Amino acid sequence: MAHIVLPPRWQARENDVTSEHTYRNRRQFIEELGLGVIGMAALGAMGCSMTSFGPLDTIPDNAPREGYPAARNEAFSVPERAVTGRIYASSYNNFYEFDGASKEIWPLTEPYEPFPMTIRVRGLVEKRRTFDVAELIRTMDLEERLYRFRCVEAWAMTVPWTGFPLSKLIERCKPLSRATHVRFVSVNRPNQMEGIRKQHWYPWPYYEALRMEEAMNELAFVVTGMYGEPLPKQNGSPLRLALPWKYGYKGPKAIVRIEFTDQQPGTFWNDLQPLEYGFLSNVNPNIPHPRWSQATETLLETDERVPTQIFNGYDEWVSALYPGEPRRPGRPLAR
Ligand code: MTE
Repeated sequence: MAHIVLPPRWQARENDVTSEHTYRNRRQFIEELGLGVIGMAALGAMGCSMTSFGPLDTIPDNAPREGYPAARNEAFSVPERAVTGRIYASSYNNFYEFDGASKEIWPLTEPYEPFPMTIRVRGLVEKRRTFDVAELIRTMDLEERLYRFRCVEAWAMTVPWTGFPLSKLIERCKPLSRATHVRFVSVNRPNQMEGIRKQHWYPWPYYEALRMEEAMNELAFVVTGMYGEPLPKQNGSPLRLALPWKYGYKGPKAIVRIEFTDQQPGTFWNDLQPLEYGFLSNVNPNIPHPRWSQATETLLETDERVPTQIFNGYDEWVSALYPGEPRRPGRPLAR
């Protein structure tokens, strides 16, 4: 999505902006990263007071550590693919609050302090309440789930997330029965997030939403960690969503507000580019993005190109929610 920049800056040619381009850069970036770390180690050996710092060192020191690593829930497996290497999943990110043009987010997260953080629960609820995120994480039963992850830009990975079902959090929020949708808002800290300061054309803070039956689906997962440890900052610390049957942008990072409503709320990318990013945004090879095909995807780390699966391979969990989802190759979203 690095290419999603609003006019008047929307000038790029397709070749400049497609996922293919970012793929080529990704491998180069990882290689440079390796050299950088070795270089820093060499400086250290020469007596220079530099410590190496990398994408796996961005887990906040004060993140709760109880419950990690959590037991894997074997109901969710990804038999056809290898687990993506941890360094890849934490080196190649989308987190526009830090930068929208680059995937190299982790070095920009240094000023960001995810803890302490609170989540305010508002809208159609029995009673407004506020959760302290660290306390929430400590009181939930954590489990590990290996999920496919598919970005709308046609790159994909397989990640062992740690967390708890979104339905458990919603139960604690006590929404009224007339709530039809739930809206999530991400943290808005311009002083710690340079992308918010520099990209003033985006409608900060980041916001997303689900239908209630989507949010209550067994797959919908609140993520607090990955690869057996708390979340690195660039992956959405302190807490984000993983909705593996939807494109990655439906899963907001660093959530600070949950609101229940009786109308479909707007969402960040859908409000910006409705013909490119729908409200539902289920992974579907039959609905091409207006500027690229969604029929295949490239796996992070191996660069293997594989067919995209409907609902990202989670058909049996979610197909009943979407009787109208196209099952044959069709056209992009229409007005
Ligand atoms: N949440 C916030 N707050 N800001 C973002 O820019 N990017 C989304 C999603 N959640 C984003 C966000 C997009 S486009 C993707 S693909 C995933 O986060 C990326 O998650 P990852 O960096 O852990 O792979």
